[in-house]
Amino acid sequence: MNNKLNDLDPKTWLKFQKSWFIHNPPPRKKGVLTHPAKFPETLAQEFITFFTKKGQTVLDPMCGTGSTLVAALRAGRHSYGIELNPKYAAIARQILAEERALLKANADFAPITAEIIEGDAARATEYALPTVDYVLTSPPYWDMLHARGAETQKRRRATDGLDVVYSDDPRDLGNVHDYAAFLTQLVAIYAGLKPLLRPGAYLTIIVKNVKKGGKIYPLAWDLGRELGNIYALKDEKLWLQDNQRLAPFGLGSAWVSNTFHHYCLQFRNE
Ligand SMILES: C[S@@+](CC[C@H](N)C(=O)[O-])C[C@H]1O[C@@H](n2cnc3c(N)ncnc32)[C@H](O)[C@@H]1O
Repeated sequence: MNNKLNDLDPKTWLKFQKSWFIHNPPPRKKGVLTHPAKFPETLAQEFITFFTKKGQTVLDPMCGTGSTLVAALRAGRHSYGIELNPKYAAIARQILAEERALLKANADFAPITAEIIEGDAARATEYALPTVDYVLTSPPYWDMLHARGAETQKRRRATDGLDVVYSDDPRDLGNVHDYAAFLTQLVAIYAGLKPLLRPGAYLTIIVKNVKKGGKIYPLAWDLGRELGNIYALKDEKLWLQDNQRLAPFGLGSAWVSNTFHHYCLQFRNE
């Protein structure tokens, strides 16, 4: 097979083509626990090895504690991450240094870039980044970390000294309370990456539809439609979690789901 996209054999390629997967995150390490919402490095690595070849460059414009960059380093891809919150940027740098030390012990480890930029994703083109072959990222799920429904979990996290929201920075999209304004700003950030992307580069955005005050805000679908005007929208993959505890929302009176799936939306710079 003349494989222009990745280094996978046809069997592994085919396995990734299924439109859903179950991934139960392994237990989180202490440093990354500070962050309220990260995706697992093991999941990130599967996407990176499908959408890039070894030695190519991956970007996460809202990289949190750096799962995308850890996965890229393990997979032998160069990576850049932008993160607004200095605390998460520092944790990400530390985790990457530890990961690099582990990998260096391995004789065939080639020098790989994994750089965290403390900054605003809306200004990505100002950070002298090289051409990017793939974007893997996940935004704040609107202002949901401020929502009242999550009170119990928030109280538990606060008692443990862990963050309950990302920051109080007005540039933090998790602090934009108007849904339409949030969506417009988010789309503008992703659209703003276009000059950095190689033609044909893919973007994967991991996102959920959100529920607030008994109403659904179809963030994943809205993003698919709006960003589909800038990049070509491709098939989604569903990330299913089946190790979460069920809560009796609406029991006996109304249909309210326990939402244990995320959309991994694929776009292509065409
Ligand atoms: C869902 S989290 C990303 C988690 C990350 N995928 C991980 O696994 O650690 C979203 C991140 O976006 C960051 N963020 C919000 N607004 C931003 C902005 N304008 N520029 C850069 N980062 C931003 C938040 O601080 C938060 O860490």
